[in-house]
Amino acid sequence: MATILDGKKVARDIESEIGEEVTGFVAKGLRPPHLVAVLVGEDGASKTYVSGKMKACEVVGYKSSLIKFDDNISENELLSVVDRLNTDEGVDGYIVQLPLPDHISVEKITDRIDPIKDVDGFTPANYGKIDMEHHSLLPATPMGIIELLERYKIETKGKHCVVVGKSHIVGMPMGILLAGPGDATVTICHIHTKNLAEHTQKADILVVAVGKPGLISGDMVKEGVVVVDVGTTRVPDASKKKGFALKGDVDFATVEPKASYITPVPGGVGPMTIASLIINTMIAYKKAMCL
Ligand code: GUN
Repeated sequence: MATILDGKKVARDIESEIGEEVTGFVAKGLRPPHLVAVLVGEDGASKTYVSGKMKACEVVGYKSSLIKFDDNISENELLSVVDRLNTDEGVDGYIVQLPLPDHISVEKITDRIDPIKDVDGFTPANYGKIDMEHHSLLPATPMGIIELLERYKIETKGKHCVVVGKSHIVGMPMGILLAGPGDATVTICHIHTKNLAEHTQKADILVVAVGKPGLISGDMVKEGVVVVDVGTTRVPDASKKKGFALKGDVDFATVEPKASYITPVPGGVGPMTIASLIINTMIAYKKAMCL
């Protein structure tokens, strides 16, 4: 039976560590850190993610602000929001929740974010430093996964890590972090990979981030594998209050019996992404306040 990588618990631990720091700063008369989230449109999953981020701010004692726009906001209008946030000294870090409507270029928006306030770690300046010793703000999801592995004392050095998915947000930075600072041998698989199982079966550590429920089944992994499931697809489920259930990319029922460690969905990677955002905001705050 696999040990569950309990992201919810680890995130709570991190939040309580950061909460203590915030209490200390405020006791000294400093203002608390301030995180802003920009949300465009009515995507249900994005709303849920952003509300989780705002809730975490409340838990640790950060100031948080949510700026919402209809999905007909123009690219130029959104760029001027970014410009405003860049120069607002009362804002330590901010995120523009993705996805954005098709008429807005994610690249243009991301390129305009001041890297100092880029707590998502998506700007070219921060992204380009992922494998450097003096990196500043790392992309939140891969950063959270590394933190989760470290807290469970799972070594990556010399391991064969297989990452499925090559998104800008998760797969690519995950591969860089594992191969660079993590000293692992990394295979990145994606939609064009031929015979996916041939690769996943060789993984000591398997990270799956594609958004295809149940893609990885028990026959695709070896005994003792460490499995990290980033997928959170909403699938209709009449038995749930909200009418849907969150499903990971890994078929838990058949993979868990073969795994040594595995993340649950929900309660695995999701809370760790939020914890990383909280950590990054503290890093940005300390820089802004010269602490
Ligand atoms: N959409 C899905 N994941 C993320 C994330 O980590 N940050 C932002 N800004 N948008 C997302």
